[in-house]
Order: sequence, then structure tokens, then C-alpha cells
Amino acid sequence: RQQVFRLTTGSSALDNLLGGGIESSAITEAFGEFRSGKTQIALTLCITAQMPKTSGGGMGKVAYIDTEGTFRPERIAQIASRFNLNPEAVLENILYARAYTVEHQFQLLTLIAAKMTEEPFALLVVDSIMALFRVDYSGRGELSERQQVLGKMLSRIMKISEQYNIVVYITNQVMADPGGGVSFVPDPKKPIGGHVLAHASTTRLYLRKGRGEQRICKIFDSPCLPEGEATFQIGPGGVEE
Ligand code: GTP
Ligand code: MG
Repeated sequence: RQQVFRLTTGSSALDNLLGGGIESSAITEAFGEFRSGKTQIALTLCITAQMPKTSGGGMGKVAYIDTEGTFRPERIAQIASRFNLNPEAVLENILYARAYTVEHQFQLLTLIAAKMTEEPFALLVVDSIMALFRVDYSGRGELSERQQVLGKMLSRIMKISEQYNIVVYITNQVMADPGGGVSFVPDPKKPIGGHVLAHASTTRLYLRKGRGEQRICKIFDSPCLPEGEATFQIGPGGVEE
């Protein structure tokens, strides 16, 4: 069995909060309202995953499932230069796929798992895990079926993570709660996906906006990681100090 490793996020404060970085053979979920930095963390990990393990990297390729169309190759190139890596080489090592349905998302996982038997991978990103479930199971009375399929998908993801010793980073949305008035406002502290997702995620990160480009991360409901927060910036180089 390969040794579990920790992948740097690009911020030492965030790495410290996580006990040295995002661990492999586990699922790490980040949730928070729009623009809280979920995708920017994903894009930064695409680069650090390819760095040597002695620099906090994962020394492997990246698989990226995008359900929202927010992956940006130009941004990857920009973050790669911060770490002194060749942008084209970095992009070539990212197996990118846009998913359009839950079924498609499942098929992509199978395809990715097949690729992982051929080449060393260090990271799997799913940005976001719930978006297509929300669309495909939007009807009343479909919730229990949704949760059942979600559970199946998450156990497939966990199996991939353990089998190939890779870091899994998934993003999640927050619940829209009826406010006092007519409008629905997002409740930043309530991830969707219910107990199925809560149970599957090894570590849950709650992200919120600070001043300007500052972002704050808190470990959500973990029995083994300390309470506390880490502050980082989103800058030209991705996740920064
Ligand atoms: P949703 O997917 O909408 O829920 O948001 P998210 O949590 O994924 O937010 P995301 O990671 O996209 O963060 C958006 C923030 O990142 C923006 O508000 C900017 O502050 C920052 N950002 C995005 N792109 C760039 C860029 O090219 N350069 C810099 N410096 N910052 C950027
Ligand atoms: Mg996003």
C-alpha cells in the first residue's frame, strides 16, 4: 500500500490548518457561498499536484470533472508560472472533462479510473459534486432516489481515492434558506447533500469571504482536526499566503 501524502494548497496557513495539506486516500469537500474560493483552490491544486513530493506536491497527473464550466486553462497557466512550472506541460497533465448529467458524471469516473491504472495520478477534482444532482433530481419525491445515487457515486469516488492513493477535492454548494421576506438567501453554513455527503467526506472545509481578496477557511465538524481558522488570499498565483 502506498504511503498517504499531503498536498499543499499554496497557503501555509491553510496547509497548517489541515495538518500539512490535503491528505490523499480521502475525500476533502469545500463548501461556501459564491466566490468564496472553491474553484480557485481546485485550480491551484491542479498545479501543486504535479510538483515533487519534496515541495508539497503529489508528483502525478490530475483528473478534473467540471459540472459548471468554470475551469480556465489561462488561469492554470498563470498559476503554473507562479510555481515556475511550464504552463503547457502542466495543462497536458490535466485530464479535463465537462459533465452534463449525473449519468455522465458516473461514466467519467469509470473512464478516469481506467486511466489511473495506466499512469500515476495525484488528484481528482469534482467541481461541483451536487450541481447535476440538483438538476436531474429536482422533482418532489425524488430526494431519496437522489441520495441513493449520490451515495453510490461517493463510494465509487472513495474507492478510486484509496485504490490509487490520490487526493480527492470536491466542491459543494450551500443551501438556500427562506429568509424573512420573499427572497431565498443562501445560508453559508449549510452544505447540501445531506447526511450522505456529510458521511462520505473525510474533511469538510467551510469557506467564507473576508476583506477584499482575503478568504477564511474553517474545518467543519471534524472529530480529529483542531477547531480554528486559516486566512489566505486569492491572488494572481491562485491560493496565496
Ligand atoms: P461559485 O463557484 O460561484 O460558487 O464560487 P467559488 O467559491 O468557486 O469562487 P471562485 O473560486 O471562483 O472565487 C472567485 C474569486 O476568485 C473572485 O472573486 C476573485 O476574487 C478570485 N479570482 C478569480 N479569478 C481570478 C484571477 O484570474 N485572478 C485573480 N487575482 N483572482 C481571481
Ligand atoms: Mg466555483
